[in-house]
Formats: sequence, structure tokens, C-alpha cells
Amino acid sequence: MNPRHFLTLLDLSSEELRRLIVRASEFKRNPDRNHEPLKNKVLAMIFEKSSTRTRISFETAMVHFGGSAIFLPPRDTQLGRGEPIEDSARVISRMVDCVMMRTHRHETISSFARHSSVPVINGLSDRYHPCQLLADMQTFFEHRGDISGRTVAWIGDGNNMCHSYINAARLLDFNLHIACPEHYAPDPEIVAAGGDRVTLFSAALDAAENSDLIVTDVWTSMGQETEQNTRMREFRGYQVDEMIMAAGKKDCLFMHCLPAHRGEEVSAGVIDGPMSVVWDEAENRLHSQKSLLEFLLA
Ligand code: CP
Ligand code: NVA
Repeated sequence: MNPRHFLTLLDLSSEELRRLIVRASEFKRNPDRNHEPLKNKVLAMIFEKSSTRTRISFETAMVHFGGSAIFLPPRDTQLGRGEPIEDSARVISRMVDCVMMRTHRHETISSFARHSSVPVINGLSDRYHPCQLLADMQTFFEHRGDISGRTVAWIGDGNNMCHSYINAARLLDFNLHIACPEHYAPDPEIVAAGGDRVTLFSAALDAAENSDLIVTDVWTSMGQETEQNTRMREFRGYQVDEMIMAAGKKDCLFMHCLPAHRGEEVSAGVIDGPMSVVWDEAENRLHSQKSLLEFLLA
């Protein structure tokens, strides 16, 4: 039997995603340390890139659920010495119950998943960051109720997070306004698949107008460090500051997956201000991934 993977948000139906969000909030409200649905189960976590939130939330979720997690940086395994991803997938998945991967290339995760006998979770690739969207959507639902029919503005880079927001807009039926500098727009195929849920703008202020939620992310993602100076120049004008927030609705929320750079993609006044829910958003990584792990494994 093929295991159920979570490589992009679209691996879930709308109903499943909604159920995961509700369940995540239940875990948050009723933390029951005797609930151990994953007793003796093991999650392998392969990290090609750095992480604070993703690593800690998955590891903590597994411990709370009675299982455990193994942290595997490729340089300390044979993956770092060139063992083929397909062979690694076959071997690792014969020993553990689930694998979470953070990779440079999305293809590395999908190829691992094709050869894995256990569920594989995308903990961020160059194309998508679906786990973050579970937390972001949970956070919106908790603060403002259903996101269906609402307007979300994505300001900044058309990156992995932006792609996952497009997928979320499709599944949860909200309008996504995207403003990126020229040459930094999201993948046109992913945009096209978003249909009339997605609108591209060139000015950040236009995208932000009347929105219920404004979201941004770093200008230079992991793996793009050599482009940093160019990006700093080209993204000027795409900072989420007080003026951009003022274009949204009166109760417009601000989110950022973190880590953030105050004074670059977001002003300190916004991220540390009253409409920012970034700390709830970060905490919700734990609760929403518990609901994902339960869904895939229990
Ligand atoms: N938002 C997020 O994925 O954070 P980390 O890179 O710290 O895991
Ligand atoms: N877009 C960022 C997200 C970090 C959580 C990156 O890929 O580095």
C-alpha cells in the first residue's frame, strides 16, 4: 500500500485541511500529556538547511505523543557522501514510521517519497512550505474565524511560502493578492492553477488594500545567499510597514513565518505591533503538526 505523504498542501482535500485545523486548536486548548497516539513511533528528520521552529515543533510533538524523533543532518549520514536518495529512502523507511525532510530541491523530497514505505512530510523545499500553512491557517481561524471569502495579501518574494499560500487559497477559498518586484513573481504554473483566487499586483499598497491578513517572508531564502545584495536593492518598496498595514481592513492581521529581518521585509513597528500574530503563528507549528502526525500515523 502506498503511504499517504504531505509534500504540498494539495495532498489534502479541503475537508481534510479544515479537519486538521480544528484538531490543531483542540490540541492547543486541551494539552493532555497522557494522550500518546504515537507511542514507540519514530520520526526521522532530515535537514539539509537550518531550522529552529520546524525541528523543535516536530521533535516536541513526537515526545508529547509518546514517540521520538531522530535529527539527521545529511553531513552526518551517508546522504552527505552521495548515497542515492532512492536507496536512502528505502533503507530509512524500513526502520522508522515517518520521515520529515527539509531540502534545497523539491525534487529530492518527491523522489524520496516515491521510494519510501512510510509517510514523508515536506518540512520546506525550494518550492513549498506546507507545514507553515497549517499553522498560519490555524492562527487565522483562531483570531478571525473562517478564512473563506476573505482577502489575504502576500507582499515580497514569490517564493516557497507564496506558493503554499496559493495552494491554501485554492483549498480554503480565499482571495490572494500578491505583490512582488519584477522577476520575483511566483511560478506562473502555480499561479495559473490558482485560477481566479489569485491576483498579481506590482505595487504592494494595491495588493494590501482592504485585506484581512497581510503576510510577508524574508527577501533572501535559504540557498539564495549569493543574491542577497541584489535582492536588498530590488525589494526596496516591498517592506510591510505601517502604511501598508493601514491599507488593509481595520482589523487586518500580520503574519510572518519567521525568522524575520526588522527593517527589511517588515518594519519593527509592524512585527512588534498590535496586529502582529507571529508568536501565535510560531506556537501553532507545534499544535498543527501534532494534528498532521496524528492524521498520517495514528
Ligand atoms: N518558519 C520556519 O519554518 O522556521 P524554521 O526555519 O526555524 O524551521
Ligand atoms: N522562504 C524562507 C522560509 C524560511 C522558513 C526560506 O526558504 O528560507
